[in-house]
Amino acid sequence: MNPLKHVAIIMDGNGRWGLRYKNSRNAGHKAGLSTVEKIIKETIKNKIKFLTLYAFSTENWRRPKTEINYLFKLLENFLKDKIEDLNKQNIRLKIIGIKSFYPKLNKLLDISEKKTFKNNKLQINLALNYGSKSELVNACKVLVKNKDKINESNLTKYLQTEGIPDPDLLIRTGNTKRLSNFLLWQLAYSEIFFEKKLWPDFNEKDYNKVIKNFKKIKRNFGKI
Ligand code: FPP
Repeated sequence: MNPLKHVAIIMDGNGRWGLRYKNSRNAGHKAGLSTVEKIIKETIKNKIKFLTLYAFSTENWRRPKTEINYLFKLLENFLKDKIEDLNKQNIRLKIIGIKSFYPKLNKLLDISEKKTFKNNKLQINLALNYGSKSELVNACKVLVKNKDKINESNLTKYLQTEGIPDPDLLIRTGNTKRLSNFLLWQLAYSEIFFEKKLWPDFNEKDYNKVIKNFKKIKRNFGKI
């Protein structure tokens, strides 16, 4: 059985779900947040140490302002309501991506990260304003500036995921098969599961089914 330390998820399908059932994309994001909470609980039950969630990509700025504002407000309210609870549960929150939002949200993200810094039951990496290509370019710039030897382990040091093991498993919901500029370096050897269900419909049972199937895979890492 494969050990499972790190699950990464592309939570796709909120917009379609919202339009289909509530005639509003934003309603889909709200429903998607409930799925986030369910999946966090189930991740703890499965004793998985790292959960990386793609919440907002560098490309998502191309969406209408009203949708962007709604997403950030949802995140702000979530952190205000839940950060104490996450902290009590010994969960660490880390942001990967560039924290450049409105001042209130930037501050709340900083506070949440600092408050939970020492926690070690589960680390949630929230990818916000994250893009893998720019992460790699920035890492290269630092590598060159520091005159470090160019090799894999030195490059890895300057990624935002420094110190985090690579994902063992990537799940993408929403019936779309692409990586959308997410963790392109870190996913080099991850097992990838594409799920037909839209993110708000994805539930604990679906998650456990993926985990069960992941555990059965023969992972070779290039060997035979
Ligand atoms: C992709 O679905 C989803 C997002 C860009 C946002 C993800 C946000 C959440 C799950 C809720 C908020 C989470 C937190 C942690 C506050 P899409 O909108 O691209 O869906 P579509 O492909 O159907 O349009």
